[in-house]
Amino acid sequence: MASISPLLPLPTNLPTKEIPGGYGPPFFGALSDRLDLIYNPAGPDAFFESRMKKYNSTVFRVNIPPGGIFFPDPRVIMLLDQKSFPVLFDTTKVDKTDIFTGTYMPPVSCTGGFRVLPYLDPSEERHTKLKGFCFEILKSNASKWFPEFHKAFMEAGTIWDSQLTSDGRANFSDATDEFALNFLLRSIVNRDPTIRGEVDLGDNPASLLVPWIAFQLYPIIPLGILPKYVEDFIFHNFQLPFWPVKGYYDKLYKFFKTYGTEAIDIAVTKFDLHREDAIHNLIFFVCFNTHGGIKRLFPSIVRHISDAGAELQQELAQEVQSAVKSHGGLTPKALGSMPLVESTVYEVLRIEPPVAYQYGRAKNDLIIESHDAAYKVKKGEMLGGYQPCATRDPKVFANPKAFLPKRFLGDEGQRLLQYVLWSNGQETSEPTVSNKQCAGKNFVVLISRLFVAELFSRYDYIKLGPPVGKGVSPKFFFTTLQKSQI
Ligand code: HEM
Repeated sequence: MASISPLLPLPTNLPTKEIPGGYGPPFFGALSDRLDLIYNPAGPDAFFESRMKKYNSTVFRVNIPPGGIFFPDPRVIMLLDQKSFPVLFDTTKVDKTDIFTGTYMPPVSCTGGFRVLPYLDPSEERHTKLKGFCFEILKSNASKWFPEFHKAFMEAGTIWDSQLTSDGRANFSDATDEFALNFLLRSIVNRDPTIRGEVDLGDNPASLLVPWIAFQLYPIIPLGILPKYVEDFIFHNFQLPFWPVKGYYDKLYKFFKTYGTEAIDIAVTKFDLHREDAIHNLIFFVCFNTHGGIKRLFPSIVRHISDAGAELQQELAQEVQSAVKSHGGLTPKALGSMPLVESTVYEVLRIEPPVAYQYGRAKNDLIIESHDAAYKVKKGEMLGGYQPCATRDPKVFANPKAFLPKRFLGDEGQRLLQYVLWSNGQETSEPTVSNKQCAGKNFVVLISRLFVAELFSRYDYIKLGPPVGKGVSPKFFFTTLQKSQI
């Protein structure tokens, strides 16, 4: 567990207060909170801000989706400031069993009958083995990251350039989904998914992931496919059967089982894992944790950079292109000499953490402190955090709602890194087999920096149009891509 941050005031004699908010009557309370939260046209930020204002507190009680008829108890105590939020990382205080997606856990049938790593508490032996396996996968394939990322990115760049010429806009989202999956499967599973064979993923491998991921998340998100009340009634009250989606997952399973033997052998021989356990977890690491995360993070990076405009982009292009020139290519050393690229990535991860919610169940009676008060929590109560509120805490970050790409430069920037929490831990802490911090923390920052560097090696200026489509995964299109001269 990370130490208490030196920038925040040390604990003083804070008044002990009752936790404000409430849950309302059974069913109706959850329904009303759910409609307010996930169908709020202003988004979840506005929901949590209005409740913080209403209760004059960054800690309060509220129902979190799904909470419908056939789903578990939705009552959660939300922690929305930098002082209370890190309790969620402290596994001496919170139990992390089966709460990766919140109060509800998808059926294990969608992961081959196994509880995959993110649902395990560190006290479980399988957590230690599987997290060790995940670290090993990342370590043993490290030499492939730069060349494979470059290759896959160039393929996407070719698609964007030709679409822009022919259609006047280029589909950023689809090409990015595809290049990210190509990069991951070529590096980790040693198989190019674009090659057809006896076992393959068809013409559009990235599209296979969509129904499988949506099946796991539909109870907690707005899908945007039906009128609000109809959609809410069906998807947030009932657990749907897995069989309509099973065919998609079976294709992934066959692919990983056939081509992922090198990684699976490591799991069996080095970590004493069952072969089937290893296959399903490997699918989850690659397709849910990594591809799912990239699908949220890369559009945010490009959108913020695009919205920031020409001045930032000129500086990024200058930094990237001169580093690439002086190091003879986009090498690890070249990437290491791009402080603005790095700071920009951290600022995106701060202002828009890709996984917004974290949870933990109180292991014992606790006192939790916000900046202003202390609150008593009972053993067994569910704690949750909506991370964007914590990483936009005005007591820690100046001008917290503004995207300031230079925020993390220099000594002050280094000091502020401890308040960047996207990985379910402080950016200055490291994931281990005994904590719940994202196993891919350093890899994610690396490929995000690589992504920005590849983008500004190829282009001097980019412009992304407004989102197209409803729901949680709208599509984005480039409307301008100005090629670099190098
Ligand atoms: C856990 C985010 C990529 C593997 C987590 C958690 C978050 C997160 C927030 C904690 C969830 C919780 O317990 O509340 C992300 C994001 C990613 C990303 C945003 C990409 C943009 C990766 C990658 C890997 C990975 C590349 C490894 C291949 C894991 C694993 C866990 C985890 C195994 C569970 C850790 C444990 O049980 O101790 N991730 N992740 N993630 N992530 Fe990531």
